[in-house]
Amino acid sequence: MAVSGIALVLFLFAHAAGNMKIFVGNEDFDHYAHWLRTLGTPLLPDVWFLWIMRIGLLVAIVAHIYAATQLTIRAKKARPVKYAHRPKVQGSYAARTMRWGGVIVLLFIIYHILDLTTGHLNPVGDSTRPHANVIADFAPDRWYVTLFYVVSVIAVGLHLRHGIWSAVRTLGQQSKQNEFRAQVTSLVLAVVLVAMYLSVPLAVTFGWVK
Ligand code: HEM
Repeated sequence: MAVSGIALVLFLFAHAAGNMKIFVGNEDFDHYAHWLRTLGTPLLPDVWFLWIMRIGLLVAIVAHIYAATQLTIRAKKARPVKYAHRPKVQGSYAARTMRWGGVIVLLFIIYHILDLTTGHLNPVGDSTRPHANVIADFAPDRWYVTLFYVVSVIAVGLHLRHGIWSAVRTLGQQSKQNEFRAQVTSLVLAVVLVAMYLSVPLAVTFGWVK
């Protein structure tokens, strides 16, 4: 769970940093997307490195879902008889929504790939012009797409906050001070990531980026 989770967190930060290119300029964003496709050349043929990254990402997602399923089965086996009275669960909202949050994130990723990678659900849908795709996607009259992205990114943030918190806790001794550190680290990283992701659709919808 943790190893695949760390790989996914690294991807999320790299992707968010790449998205910030939209604030530098139209051509810079398209240039960055083009660079992703030629990365590794001339050692590797065009697009090979991108495909290696995509396969790595897919393996990490499948491993993450597999580990989550195994943990759920193990937890159910450990407590085959339901509690007659279950007191209100302690813990954060993020902790209680990990499974369903994960499903929402997965559905979002499928939509997102059909939207901005393959272009099937995008009004422009030209993979050589990612900037134009993003601008068309979050146009003010498509506010419902922006809203869907906002809700999904918040789900990613909640999922990530609890995930990083668990990983940091696993690494450290569980003292009061380490617990506080884990809480602060996970909250700060999740807030920074959510802010970076939200900035793009919101900037386009409100016309700050054209
Ligand atoms: C909300 C702001 C986001 C924007 C503006 C955005 C933008 C983009 C764009 C333009 C692409 C296509 C890149 C290309 O073809 O060169 C892309 C691909 C992708 N994005 Fe996002 N993204 C956002 C959020 C996310 C989030 C939150 C996730 C994960 C939970 C994510 C996961 C992916 C994945 C897996 C791909 C496919 C990578 C590939 O195989 O080419 N994105 N995104």
